[in-house]
Amino acid sequence: MSTPEPGKPIYNVKNPFIAKVKRAFDISGSDAPKHTRHYEIELTGSQLVYTPGDSLAVQPTNDPALVYETLKALGFSGEEIVKHPKTGIEVPIRQALIEATLITEIDNKLIKAIIEKTMGNTTLAGLLEPEKKDELKSYLWGRYVIDLLLENPSAKFEPQEFMLTQKKLNIRLYSISSSQKAHPEEVHLTVATVRYSSHGRARGGVASTFLAERITVGETLIPVFVNHGKGFRLPEPDDETPVIMIGPGTGIAPFRAFLEERKATAAKGKAWLFFGEVSAKTCFFYKDEFEAYLADGTLAKLTTAWSRDQAEKIYVQHKMLENSAEIYTWLEQGAIVYVCGDASRMAVDVDKALHSIIEKEGSKTTEEASAYMAAFKEAKRYRRDVY
Ligand SMILES: Cc1cc2nc3c(=O)[nH]c(=O)nc-3n(C[C@H](O)[C@H](O)[C@H](O)COP(=O)(O)OP(=O)(O)OC[C@H]3O[C@@H](n4cnc5c(N)ncnc54)[C@H](O)[C@@H]3O)c2cc1C
Ligand SMILES: NC(=O)c1ccc[n+]([C@@H]2O[C@H](COP(=O)([O-])OP(=O)(O)OC[C@H]3O[C@@H](n4cnc5c(N)ncnc54)[C@H](OP(=O)(O)O)[C@@H]3O)[C@@H](O)[C@H]2O)c1
Repeated sequence: MSTPEPGKPIYNVKNPFIAKVKRAFDISGSDAPKHTRHYEIELTGSQLVYTPGDSLAVQPTNDPALVYETLKALGFSGEEIVKHPKTGIEVPIRQALIEATLITEIDNKLIKAIIEKTMGNTTLAGLLEPEKKDELKSYLWGRYVIDLLLENPSAKFEPQEFMLTQKKLNIRLYSISSSQKAHPEEVHLTVATVRYSSHGRARGGVASTFLAERITVGETLIPVFVNHGKGFRLPEPDDETPVIMIGPGTGIAPFRAFLEERKATAAKGKAWLFFGEVSAKTCFFYKDEFEAYLADGTLAKLTTAWSRDQAEKIYVQHKMLENSAEIYTWLEQGAIVYVCGDASRMAVDVDKALHSIIEKEGSKTTEEASAYMAAFKEAKRYRRDVY
């Protein structure tokens, strides 16, 4: 964890730094199946300090168009006065919904209130029973507050009563994708814009669409603060330890920061980056930078996996298995393995690939490979930042 220098301000959720985006651009091509963007946030005057491996907390606001629709479904003008859920100050409900309420997720309090107000005459009836947990989860998947209001028009709320049924709109974390040594007055982010459709509406993730669609570069005020990472740190620059970085998709973010830092500090150990995305043509994020690092030796190796450039899926773990002998050599040389990105599928499969590599190349039994992995974790040489 980076220790703030004496006299430097400490920013946190109650005292965020109010930043502006200096530059933002797409890093995925226009015909890519997903939209990923690079953001450069201005820090001048903030004295904000970060270290590669840290993430930035961003406080988003809701889409005013969705707030308008939600107010319409409630039968409110938007001017009704309620308590701001975060400050307790009286504000128009429109402002409270834009700034502080998670209208894209449904709290059980809202379900309970609708069941009561409709006297059970609703598809929600019974869904709060403990044995209906899975049914409730699948019912709520892709539904916003507005969906429940439109499906239950007889459930009428007073403005403050409605506010009490809502969750708070909290910060989102983004892995920092820059080194402060390379950009003293900036912090960079690499963000995939979450977009999907459900229940007949185009939907968007609150924070990722806030950044992609609702900010004006150089103008919009964005509350941010650094969430200091604990163990996701580079070895010391004068250390010879090799590093293997596995970061498909937006998992690349901290590794761009690591590489900028290693170039700035002329780090000694060798570095190997595994990057995966759907297609080399549309989603080779930061290609020019990584190729320059290969040319100047900041990166010893760059291995890519393009999942949709051929009939069968090729993922980072397939490329790891193809390179198993060399990965094992690096492990035996004391390499630290870093993994960042999707927790539910990728990180699990990468973990399995590491086990297979150790088993095969170390001529070990499954149990011996597990013991090797356990020792490897114990030595803090397996560092993951997955979400
Ligand atoms: C430590 C950490 C670091 C992170 N770093 C990064 C990073 O560098 N870059 C990055 O892009 N993200 C990163 N994330 C993820 C990021 O914090 C947000 O979770 C992400 O941007 C989505 O937030 P959002 O507000 O846009 O979406 P939300 O409003 O939170 O919406 C996401 C939700 O939408 C719902 N949803 C999504 N797709 C569908 C669908 N098809 N059908 C129905 N419902 C759906 C799901 O409930 C999902 O949880 C990181 C997370 C953590 C914890
Ligand atoms: N909590 C949230 O709200 C939230 C929001 C955004 C992202 N995320 C998580 O962050 C992840 C990163 O999203 P992203 O858009 O940057 O990229 P991503 O969805 O992880 O995709 C990046 C690459 O990884 C591939 N991939 C898919 N399954 C894989 C597996 N099992 N092993 C290895 N690679 C695999 C994808 O291939 P294909 O797509 O061709 O299969 C693609 O080529 C998401 O998957 C999601 O889990 C969470």
